[in-house]
Amino acid sequence: MKQNLTRLLIALLLFSTHAIAHQPTFYGREGMIVAHDQEAVEAGLEILKKGGNAVDAAVAVAYALAVTHPQAGNIGGGGFMLIKMADGRQIAIDYRETAPAKSLRDMYLDENGDVIPYKSVFGGLAVGVPGTVAGMQMALDEYGTLSRKKVMKPAIKLAQKGFKVSYQLSRNLEYLYNVTESFPETRRVFANNGNFSKPGDRFIQADLAKTLKLISKHGNKGFYEGPVAEAVVSTILDFKGIMTLDDLKNYKAMNRTPVLGTYKGYEIMSMPPPSSGGIALIGILNLLEDEGLDTLFWHSSAAIQKIVEAERLVYADRSEWLGDPDFIDVPINEMISKEYAGRRKELNDLSTYHSSESVSPWTASEMDSLKRYFKESEETTHFSVVDKWGNAVSNTYTLNWTFGSRVTVKGYGFLLNDEMDDFSAKPGVPNMFGLVGNIANAIEPNKRMLSSMTPTIVMKEGKVVSVLGSPGGSTIITSVLQLILNTIDYKMPPVLAISSPRFHHQWLPDVVYYEPFGLSQETIQSLENQGYEFEIRSWIGESNAIFYDPIYGGWIGVPDPRRGAHAGGY
Ligand code: GLY
Repeated sequence: MKQNLTRLLIALLLFSTHAIAHQPTFYGREGMIVAHDQEAVEAGLEILKKGGNAVDAAVAVAYALAVTHPQAGNIGGGGFMLIKMADGRQIAIDYRETAPAKSLRDMYLDENGDVIPYKSVFGGLAVGVPGTVAGMQMALDEYGTLSRKKVMKPAIKLAQKGFKVSYQLSRNLEYLYNVTESFPETRRVFANNGNFSKPGDRFIQADLAKTLKLISKHGNKGFYEGPVAEAVVSTILDFKGIMTLDDLKNYKAMNRTPVLGTYKGYEIMSMPPPSSGGIALIGILNLLEDEGLDTLFWHSSAAIQKIVEAERLVYADRSEWLGDPDFIDVPINEMISKEYAGRRKELNDLSTYHSSESVSPWTASEMDSLKRYFKESEETTHFSVVDKWGNAVSNTYTLNWTFGSRVTVKGYGFLLNDEMDDFSAKPGVPNMFGLVGNIANAIEPNKRMLSSMTPTIVMKEGKVVSVLGSPGGSTIITSVLQLILNTIDYKMPPVLAISSPRFHHQWLPDVVYYEPFGLSQETIQSLENQGYEFEIRSWIGESNAIFYDPIYGGWIGVPDPRRGAHAGGY
């Protein structure tokens, strides 16, 4: 009895110091922004303070990141914006890139039908028709309140007058210089031909400022038609691409219906296809809901096993069923239903190791032919915004690989994406994230490639409790998942929920990736004895999130420390 009491007292003491140690640094009653760069946070705050709503601020942040974060912030790429308006409207804006009209299913295969390495990653053929400018315009037109000119002003200023280069950006520009011998315009614009900006230097982007001004003045026409469009097409042709002026002119952002699930009394709203993110996230949560995770120690072998087995099942399904819903029938309702999760578990309980082959939708010979490799370095960037009215925006957008295709549009100062790699170049052969896809995600003209981006908003009785998302390619889904489990099952304070080490499994390769110090030797040993393989990764994701504060009301912003993100509220 006395021993139990002592244990309880120690637990209470530990809990209270732990809670104090993880008190938030960023708190705001009226608004909160969490994004990769401080300048982008300030751009968004400026718009909120001028009376703009969360959508206006999100557009300002997106354009600012296109200046300050050239690895992933963009106008030459695409992404997804999830919006929860205070009046109850739930919106998913799809501004994913599309395949140029001249695309062919086998455009990345050699005469033997084998994938030509990197053809879908670097150069003109890797580029999908960019969606960001159209997506921002749709968001602003339909849900914003301020003019395009107002919300783009901070970004134009950042490009024109420059901003102070961070240590991280300087290292990235050096990296970019080293890998762009065949991309002279990229070296000129971003690396000053080798004399790239050092930490603290001012980085001015006059060409990009000119482009942003054209967009600010003419909207979509300033990007998808006229001199910018002509420069995009001629640059892509120089790099053996196939995009035409018509591809650009015909690009359209889409308003989709968010996917909705529930987890332990919370509502989960996330991104529908062409992202796999929402379906996969809700599918994994459905599998885990009655598995009693809250009764298992965090990162114990039993908890890890259940989560990994649930991820294995859902990523296997992802490879078979998911693609652009305008081209294939995606069984969305089935895949996010609790009944489907129940049926999946009848065949594969989550407390036993199942090889990836055994849960595969593929035949044995197809499985044999799958190459298993996993290339690191996943860019993409996520930011979250809330305003004083209770509108919330969760936005993830990308160039795909760090700095995209490495092709910079001549004279206009922006990089183009390499999103074509997110198609299945050949069904069964993994892309650069090691993700395997099927016919559902095969290349077709004007089709959107499958994504893992998972902008997500968690609600309780319709009220926003958190705004979540992450970069990280295939690890995006599992990063967002762990935020939800950390906060709902393990009741972690927000700062701890974000900073705690993560792990990841994606069906193929059959490996559990984990961050340094993320799993104990005993946990790994016990799971290895059951058949699991483990591999350490440097970091997983950058989950720039916002949480409702139940103590004072208002919002807690948590920039993920993994890549040095920022937050600001007021
Ligand atoms: N390009 C990464 C993704 O869309 O998931």
